[in-house]
Amino acid sequence: MKAMQYMGYGDPSKIRLADVPTPKPAPDQLLVKVAASSVNPIDWKLHNGSLRFLVPVRFPSIPGMDLAGEVAEVGEKATRFRPGDRVMACLSSRRFGSAAEFAAVDERLAALVPKTMNDHEAAALPLAGQTALKALRDLGGLKEDDRVLIVGASGGVGHYAVQIAKAFGANVSAVCSGANMSWVRELGADETIDYTRTTEFGPWASFDLIFDTVVSEPFGRYQGLQKPDGIYVSTLPTIGLMGRSVLFRLLSKKRIKTVMLKSNGEDLAFLSALAEQGRLRSVIDTVFPLSQLDLAHRRSQSGHARGKIVIDIHGTPSSPT
Ligand SMILES: NC(=O)c1ccc[n+]([C@@H]2O[C@H](COP(=O)([O-])OP(=O)(O)OC[C@H]3O[C@@H](n4cnc5c(N)ncnc54)[C@H](OP(=O)(O)O)[C@@H]3O)[C@@H](O)[C@H]2O)c1
Repeated sequence: MKAMQYMGYGDPSKIRLADVPTPKPAPDQLLVKVAASSVNPIDWKLHNGSLRFLVPVRFPSIPGMDLAGEVAEVGEKATRFRPGDRVMACLSSRRFGSAAEFAAVDERLAALVPKTMNDHEAAALPLAGQTALKALRDLGGLKEDDRVLIVGASGGVGHYAVQIAKAFGANVSAVCSGANMSWVRELGADETIDYTRTTEFGPWASFDLIFDTVVSEPFGRYQGLQKPDGIYVSTLPTIGLMGRSVLFRLLSKKRIKTVMLKSNGEDLAFLSALAEQGRLRSVIDTVFPLSQLDLAHRRSQSGHARGKIVIDIHGTPSSPT
């Protein structure tokens, strides 16, 4: 089968097209004929060497954790899916490899693609959507009428977070740049704040839950925006946040948490149901053919994707929106 591989640690210039053996599914796995994959920052972070002491990579390495496609084969102990089912999944950060024509997928990580989504939209959802769900619902205790601030609302994780928070009945303030404000509002944000113009929030601003998907500002910027028992959830751990988190536990009811995604098929099925109810959709920044995975990773590294970057395994590109 065709796959794109990093030949060693480095930037996307290390990516090559290769012919590699099609994986054999283990008894609890599905062999999926991948129609589309999507890019997440973890894909290039794992391969540029910055996480090598936490998650070492063996080369040549096929990147990619997200996929959508058709079940081609079912392992003898896999019971939930049949050949021909349209599924999506987020592979683990140790056994990834979705930038390929086929991938072996642990059955427990897969869910059926919602009828409302095409392959591109479904491949965009698993990692970023589950991260947003875990951060808001599980770590943030999201509930109806909560006031929620989402920082990075136009990114892969952030644009799902806006929609999930609205689906739970929250009031959503979304931080993004001016160029992205109108479509982030269309996703349901009640208020948008242009981070390129405003560095201050009004004195009235106070949130039950702050979800920071960017983590570029010192925490002090958000501390005053937390309600007395407010929760701040970040997508990246920093030394400063860890120290402050311990202090908060000793001295206050405020909380600081970091989401660490461990994907699972139940959460993905939950998101799939939201999509079928018309309450969740994927916004696609660009579609690259598999052969241009290097360009897709560079687009992600720019830090300015609007929604998700998708890889069409059989090669239908589109331009940035
Ligand atoms: N811990 C976990 O389990 C986990 C899971 C998923 C992701 N992550 C991490 O979370 C981060 C976000 O992931 P992602 O997939 O959402 O990234 P992404 O799609 O690349 O995010 C890009 C978006 O961030 C916006 N942005 C950049 N600077 C901003 C700022 N100062 N304020 C507001 N928005 C800003 C950009 O908008 P503009 O173009 O307007 O600047 C762009 O739309 C990454 O670092 C990723 O590695 C962690």
